Amino acid sequence: MKAAAFALLVALAGSSSAALGQGMELLRSKGCVGCHDAERTKVGPSLKDIRAKYGGDTSRTPQIVARMKDGKGHPKIAAPDAELTAAVQAAIAAK
Ligand code: HEC
Repeated sequence: MKAAAFALLVALAGSSSAALGQGMELLRSKGCVGCHDAERTKVGPSLKDIRAKYGGDTSRTPQIVARMKDGKGHPKIAAPDAELTAAVQAAIAAK
C-alpha cells in the first residue's frame, strides 16, 4: 500500500516533464492499447489514424468521452470522466 502510493507519487512527479510518455502510460493503464495500437489497426483505429483524423484538435474530446460512457459508437469504457478525458486527449494529441 505505502509502496504503491509512493510509486504513484514518483510517477506523478516525473510526468510533468514527460507529458506524452504519461499519455501513452495512461492509454496502457486504461486498456486502450488493447484495441488501439500505435501504428496498426486492431479492434479500433490506430493512434496514428486517430491523430490523422483529428489533426491534434482535442475539442471533440467531450463527445468522444460521452460515447465511451454510453457505450454507443465506442465500446463502453468504465473509468472516471477525468481519466477518460485525459486518455482521449492523449490518443488524439500524443506523438
Ligand atoms: C474494446 C475495444 C476498445 C477499447 C478498450 C478502446 N477502444 Fe477506442 N475505439 C474502438 C473502436 C472499435 C473504435 C472505432 C469506433 C469509433 O470511431 O468510435 C474506437 C475509436 C476510438 C477513437 C476515435 C473516435 C473517433 O471519433 O474517430 C478514440 C479517440 C478512441 N477510440 C480512444 C480510446 C481510448 C482513449 C480508450 C481507452 C480509455 C479506448 N479508445 C479504448 C475500440 C476500443
